[in-house]
Amino acid sequence: MTNRNVLVVGGGGREHALCMALATSSQVATVHCAPGNAGTSELATNHSVAASDVPALIDLATSLDVSLVVVGPEAPLCEALADHLAASGIPCFGPVQALAELEGSKLHAKQVMRTAGVPTAAFHVLDSTSDVESALDDFSGQPWVVKRDVLAGGKGVVVTSDRNEAKAFIDASIRSDGKVLLEAFLEGEEASMLVVMDGSGYVCLPPSQDHKRAFNGDEGPNTGGMGAYCPAPVATPDVIARAEAEIVKPMHDYLSSQETPYRGVLYVGLMITEEGAPSVVEFNVRFGDPECQITFPLLKSDAYSLLHAAATDGLQDQVVTFHDAHALTVVLASEGYPASPIKGRPITGLPDGSDTVWVNHAGTGFDDQGRLISTGGRVLTCTAVGPTLADAATKAYEVLDGIKLEGGHFRTDIGHRAL
Ligand code: AMP
Ligand code: GLY
Repeated sequence: MTNRNVLVVGGGGREHALCMALATSSQVATVHCAPGNAGTSELATNHSVAASDVPALIDLATSLDVSLVVVGPEAPLCEALADHLAASGIPCFGPVQALAELEGSKLHAKQVMRTAGVPTAAFHVLDSTSDVESALDDFSGQPWVVKRDVLAGGKGVVVTSDRNEAKAFIDASIRSDGKVLLEAFLEGEEASMLVVMDGSGYVCLPPSQDHKRAFNGDEGPNTGGMGAYCPAPVATPDVIARAEAEIVKPMHDYLSSQETPYRGVLYVGLMITEEGAPSVVEFNVRFGDPECQITFPLLKSDAYSLLHAAATDGLQDQVVTFHDAHALTVVLASEGYPASPIKGRPITGLPDGSDTVWVNHAGTGFDDQGRLISTGGRVLTCTAVGPTLADAATKAYEVLDGIKLEGGHFRTDIGHRAL
């Protein structure tokens, strides 16, 4: 059957990658994207509906008669998009509001991990009545990790060895949010494990590694992610087996026993010690961006079948297979990103793209004359697949070197830990 229509919600590189995967599915007739970007407009129909406008998204999904809505970002899930779609009888890839709280509230995530017996850093919840000095003493000798309990777009976490800075961020967060988390520092290497799950089962996608700092050598401010590669060798078969037994299985037991089971992808941010012990740094209730861009190209089986099965509790009957290959993507960011990105500049030199190297658009659009311009902090990501990671890196950087964006910057060391 090829008469199925799909709606992808969001407008970044992640959503362009989702549109690409769905557009090549033999099961899909048309792909729609809200709001999309210049890249998605080439393979999907863009609709000028904001990803945050839940009522308009319901209307759109209904009028398009879609068989599946795939939600990219977390915000609409936290605003109950999946709940409303369920009420309209439309399958949704993305969890209901109550379960999206795993990302919406870091304290809630900690409490769930405690209930499910999942390894994560020890923590204190601090409010205006707490003895902050003694809490800081409890975790001294290592950097302090302070996390706001709100969706803060990547700006809610401070990791610092400066006690005064930690204390100032704690005080400011308590003033604005009423409470804040202080966590023990976890030592090790990070990896992202994307687990597609529903009430019937789960599928672990190959683990990847993001690069969150803006500049080479993991220097500079935190960003949404400057590049990623997959698979990440730090997640050895032993680490994956432990993560599955100690984290994924107990989380799935918990999430599938809720009133509405979790239907979507659980992004498990892992910290892996030198001894290979995994613990959870964070959960997200969506695909990572840019992790999505390098995970989907390694999916050999059909993307629509996987996503639709997860939205309808059919995962246990799915056979999901992956290519034995490597994927790498490098983000081209606007001048001033992440603090204050300059937008509206022309982008030139984009290649046609091939089966092995292409551009995922993120913050792109068209100006009045139809020229491609930057519209966001992360502008695009150059993605390549190859038989080795080095091959994928060479191809991605070759394409990136040909693209012109005034003031644009990118890291030149994506994949350095594995290369
Ligand atoms: P989060 O938003 O919770 O993912 O935190 C952002 C980043 O802060 C993570 O990707 C880690 O690099 C770092 N981080 C968060 N929690 C910890 C922790 N307990 N120990 C060490 N680093 C952490
Ligand atoms: N790349 C990290 C994230 O999507 O949260």
